[in-house]
Amino acid sequence: MDKTSRIPGLHKMSIAERITALKDFADLTDEETALLGKSSVLGMDVAERMIENVIGTFELPLGLVPNMKVNGREILVPLAVEESSVVAALANAGKMTSSGGGYFTSSSDPIMIAQIQAVDIADPFGAKMKILEHKEKIIALANEQDPILVKFGGGCRDIEVRVIDTRKGPMVVTHILVDTRDAMGANAVNTMAEAIAPHIENWTNGKVFLRILSNLADRRVARVRCLVKKDAIPPGPEVIDGIINAWAFADADPYRAATNNKGIMNGISPLVIATGNDFRAIEAGAHAYASRTGQYRALARWEKDAEGNLVGSMELPLAMGLVGGATAIHPMAKLIVKILGIDTATELSEITAAVGLGQNLAALRALASEGIQRGHMSLHAKNIAVMAGAKGEEIELVAHQLSSEGKVRVDRAKVILEQVRKKNC
Ligand code: MEV
Repeated sequence: MDKTSRIPGLHKMSIAERITALKDFADLTDEETALLGKSSVLGMDVAERMIENVIGTFELPLGLVPNMKVNGREILVPLAVEESSVVAALANAGKMTSSGGGYFTSSSDPIMIAQIQAVDIADPFGAKMKILEHKEKIIALANEQDPILVKFGGGCRDIEVRVIDTRKGPMVVTHILVDTRDAMGANAVNTMAEAIAPHIENWTNGKVFLRILSNLADRRVARVRCLVKKDAIPPGPEVIDGIINAWAFADADPYRAATNNKGIMNGISPLVIATGNDFRAIEAGAHAYASRTGQYRALARWEKDAEGNLVGSMELPLAMGLVGGATAIHPMAKLIVKILGIDTATELSEITAAVGLGQNLAALRALASEGIQRGHMSLHAKNIAVMAGAKGEEIELVAHQLSSEGKVRVDRAKVILEQVRKKNC
């Protein structure tokens, strides 16, 4: 019989039943099946409450970054990431930025935007004014949906109405601006938008379709700056011009900007993941913000001060929460929040921005001097050694040989492994 991916009642099955169904479907061996249905930290019961059709959990290495100082406070930053060199790069950036006192941060209020899309309106500009006339009513309606948020000092602060041109004609888009305090706030603002929507239809005689937050959280930005003294940057001050040129390249060219900003997200996403936050939302917001001028540009900026020291700065939306989401449920995320020593979502966003700027510094410094491969490959060599079949002490021996030869490839690793084994016979 042909295989079918339609498994009736999959969502009602126990984890063990789901695994059995999967084992048959994918011809899994007993050994492979044994990787499923387990959790080292999260707990299968918690996992099952978080998403549907759970069959297991997925682990990433968690690395600890030293040397970080943010607003004068020494911190250790855990990062959950699969890519070698990310942790080491940020630790190196920490050493360089410590010459200028570390990272310094600030942020806007934690204001999220939700959008209410109204269409089929003959007089969109008149409709816009009508909605604005009801500002106080809209704010009151929004706040009625979430008395707890209001009690904690948050709530709807303002509205904006835009008329946008689309391929389906003009649309009237209402934004509610909501201070979500220590929550990421997606559920809060979506509930508010849904409650307001019927009123918008009444006032405008239009039809409301979408009622959803915007991940371009440009009212919820974190800012960071750092200074690297010109004599604290290896191999020497001459690399500073290379870094500034690298920044200018990224700012002018979307092909380079994508890679530059990927390097920034190398720091940001692992911390977003480690704290149980929504990394897709953060990625979408960051890249949309990088395009806000109409061209996709570098997220961070690098310049020289009057003494020739390197100055970095960055502002980006970071809609991160500590309450109401996975951060409050996931035992490892809770532990990581404790390690960071923070009490508010704003502090978390600011540290995350610092981590992003540090990654950019480390990447541009390497790219503008010896290149990225040396550092990258020496760490990557261990993975290659394992891929070639090295075990235990062999891994270090093979990786060391690969790195010193500068040829970090599986075919070469296999040859070296054979030599190591012959020697040890
Ligand atoms: C690799 O993960 C990240 C870099 O490509 C970033 C950059 O090019 O700026 C090194």
